[in-house]
Amino acid sequence: MAVHLWLAVVIISDVAASLLRPPRQLSPCQVVQNDVFCNDLNLRTIPNKLPHDIQKLDLSRNLLQNLTKEVLLFYTNIYHLNLHSNKIQFIQTGLFKDFTNLKVLDLSRNNLDIFAVLKYSIGPLKSVERLDLSGNGLYTGMTDYFLSEAPKLVNLSLNDNSITKVGKKTFCGSLALRNIDLHNNVILEIEDGAFDFLRYLSELDLSINSITCITDFNLSQLKVLNLSKNSMECFQTTDSDEEYELLYLDLRENKIHYFPVLPRRNKLMYLDLSRNRLMSVNTTGTEDELEYFRDTFVTHTRSHGTSRHQDLSRLMYLDMSYNQIQNIPQSFFCSMVSLEHLNISNNCIATFSVDQESPLNLLKTLDLSYNALQNLSFGENTLRSLQELFLQGNFLRIMDSGTFLRLPSIRGLHLQQNYINVCPLQPKPHQKDGKFQVPPGCVHLAFIPTLHFLYLSENSIEFLPPHAFSGTPLMLLDLSLNPGLEIQQNVFSGLETSLTHLSLRENHIPELNMDLSLLSSLKYVDLSTNKLTTLPFWNKESSIESLNLQNNSLVTLEYNTVLVLERSIKTLYMGSNPLNCCINPRLLDMLQRSDVVVPDIATVTCQYTDNSKLVEVNVTSVTQEQCQKMDSKSISVIVVVVTALVLIVVLVVICKLYHTRRHKSNSSFRA
Ligand SMILES: *[C@@H]1O[C@H](CO)[C@@H](O)[C@H](O)[C@H]1NC(C)=O
Ligand SMILES: *[C@@H]1O[C@H](CO)[C@@H](O)[C@H](O)[C@H]1NC(C)=O
Ligand SMILES: *[C@@H]1O[C@H](CO)[C@@H](O)[C@H](O)[C@H]1NC(C)=O
Ligand SMILES: *[C@@H]1O[C@H](CO)[C@@H](O)[C@H](O)[C@H]1NC(C)=O
Ligand SMILES: *[C@@H]1O[C@H](CO)[C@@H](O)[C@H](O)[C@H]1NC(C)=O
Ligand SMILES: *[C@@H]1O[C@H](CO)[C@@H](O)[C@H](O)[C@H]1NC(C)=O
Ligand SMILES: *[C@@H]1O[C@H](CO)[C@@H](O)[C@H](O)[C@H]1NC(C)=O
Ligand SMILES: *[C@@H]1O[C@H](CO)[C@@H](O)[C@H](O)[C@H]1NC(C)=O
Ligand SMILES: *[C@@H]1O[C@H](CO)[C@@H](O)[C@H](O)[C@H]1NC(C)=O
Repeated sequence: MAVHLWLAVVIISDVAASLLRPPRQLSPCQVVQNDVFCNDLNLRTIPNKLPHDIQKLDLSRNLLQNLTKEVLLFYTNIYHLNLHSNKIQFIQTGLFKDFTNLKVLDLSRNNLDIFAVLKYSIGPLKSVERLDLSGNGLYTGMTDYFLSEAPKLVNLSLNDNSITKVGKKTFCGSLALRNIDLHNNVILEIEDGAFDFLRYLSELDLSINSITCITDFNLSQLKVLNLSKNSMECFQTTDSDEEYELLYLDLRENKIHYFPVLPRRNKLMYLDLSRNRLMSVNTTGTEDELEYFRDTFVTHTRSHGTSRHQDLSRLMYLDMSYNQIQNIPQSFFCSMVSLEHLNISNNCIATFSVDQESPLNLLKTLDLSYNALQNLSFGENTLRSLQELFLQGNFLRIMDSGTFLRLPSIRGLHLQQNYINVCPLQPKPHQKDGKFQVPPGCVHLAFIPTLHFLYLSENSIEFLPPHAFSGTPLMLLDLSLNPGLEIQQNVFSGLETSLTHLSLRENHIPELNMDLSLLSSLKYVDLSTNKLTTLPFWNKESSIESLNLQNNSLVTLEYNTVLVLERSIKTLYMGSNPLNCCINPRLLDMLQRSDVVVPDIATVTCQYTDNSKLVEVNVTSVTQEQCQKMDSKSISVIVVVVTALVLIVVLVVICKLYHTRRHKSNSSFRA
């Protein structure tokens, strides 16, 4: 009874409370604790019935035009005000003066250029730490109306405007700035000392502008500088012994001709020079300047003193892809003892060597793809950490056959589009003149115990010796696009338990004389665009999940092969083959089963002759009954043909007999 009474009281008080409570439903905004979300509501004014103690007010994507004291009166305690994507063109001067807690102010994507034209100032932004003015059509000088009194401002976004010049006084009123984002403007000029007052400046994004040259970089406190996608032709640091904090320098997609002159004492970790116009790794400048770098270099490393290259001992990432570099002297890498990632792809390098003087022993990834490499040499005890080596698209033909045996950590070798030949396991003397002749300059790919991924497509390989990969635990082997490739028995021996991916695509192979089921881990097999008329018998269990047999000359698959395949296969490509689906009903069943995906089912057709005409039907529409009908049809045809043949033979025999008799009787007659 007491419980009931208590419940009743609770219910009544609830109802009363809900009647007394301000009708929240009237405001279209969503209130979640202290945050109010009024975004995407086509609002033209700010709702005034919101709780007054809100922290965050999201008014983004509405139709607000004028920000005046009246509309924001109630919300002076706010911490985060988001006005992104409105039509704001007027802000009452001093509006935010009393907003003592406002830390984040997002005014991006509005029409503040209209406001700035009026030459009003937004007034003090005493507590704002993060200000977003991006996408407002602001041009040079206009930022002054927003930044003149922003002493706590740390992050400033001015990206996607039309600023052409960063003036000396631009940031005078915002001395606490750490991050400035100016990307996607049209900056042509930065006045001397424009960033000088900013003692805390650490990230500067000037990407996607029109800057042509920086000749006296002296922002030693800067950590991140992004100058990508400008029209930079040079980058030079002021000559100084000061230690620079710079960690990231992005100079991608410019027109730089010479390797940048970097701070002598630097901590640079990341340097992107890709898509420029470097023809060498020389820094610009006179012999004096080079002399000067030589001295620096000698004091910082123990190596020989002929090098003119800068000290980059902290550099971990260097990208110089898509330039016109023809030659990189080994001394260039001497100081780069921390380098992990080196990308020099898409240049014109003909020779590349790594030696003991610059062993690059922390390098993990080396990309030399799409150059003009003919000669490649790695010294002993170099590249001890190299895991991925990209050499595709070069002219590698003849090199030291042990080149890849000397890479103790190599996992992936990308050798496609070269002229590589694979050496036999051991070139035994008695085989030299015999059938295992190999062209000179082959490379050894056996007994590389760390190698898992090997790409050899498009190398014009015609011959692969037996046991070519034994002792190398390959998981992936790509031999595609080597037309005429002859695959000897035992080529894959040693890969029985490791190989999961095998591609023999476009090799013009007429016959595969090996049992793929011996490769017991094989899951993905690509045999497409060959000339296979049949698959070899598969006896053992297979683990093949995906098999591509597209574009061959297969009429059917062996009954046993289908039996073995059925158990593991999930995806089967079978299009563009002259299949006779009725020979093996099991195959037809597999192709039609819903648990086997046949991605190219639309091109899988079955052929049969009907009244001596070749008929092709869509495999999905072939039924077992049709096959039986066709069978019985063909049986009756066979019966007719056989009977006719027998009759003909009998007739001929009778004729012959008759003839001989006549002949005999004739001769006897003559006799
Ligand atoms: C905003 O202010 C301008 C000029 O002060 C005025 O013409 C315009 O009507 C105002 N817009 C709104 C929506 O109040
Ligand atoms: C400034 O921006 C950086 C990175 O964009 C961010 O990590 C940091 O928290 C921001 N600081 C403030 C105060 O908003
Ligand atoms: C950087 O160079 C400019 C122009 O030479 C100079 O005005 C400024 O004082 C220098 N700044 C520092 C921090 O050395
Ligand atoms: C530099 O800016 C470009 C374009 O704005 C951007 O894609 C790139 O990630 C930036 N680089 C770094 C190192 O942040
Ligand atoms: C780079 O410097 C070396 C040595 O001074 C010189 O032989 C070579 O011609 C220079 N390369 C270019 C492209 O300027
Ligand atoms: C090297 O640079 C090219 C072009 O910028 C890029 O496509 C490739 O993925 C890079 N290589 C590596 C290993 O990151
Ligand atoms: C490659 O090395 C061979 C032999 O050392 C040499 O004859 C040839 O000129 C070199 N090729 C290039 C492009 O450097
Ligand atoms: C099928 O193979 C032939 C040669 O065997 C080739 O010309 C054709 O491009 C291949 N078609 C497809 C779709 O791969
Ligand atoms: C074969 O059947 C499939 C599935 O019903 C269909 O998508 C495809 O267009 C057909 N192809 C031909 C050549 O009729």
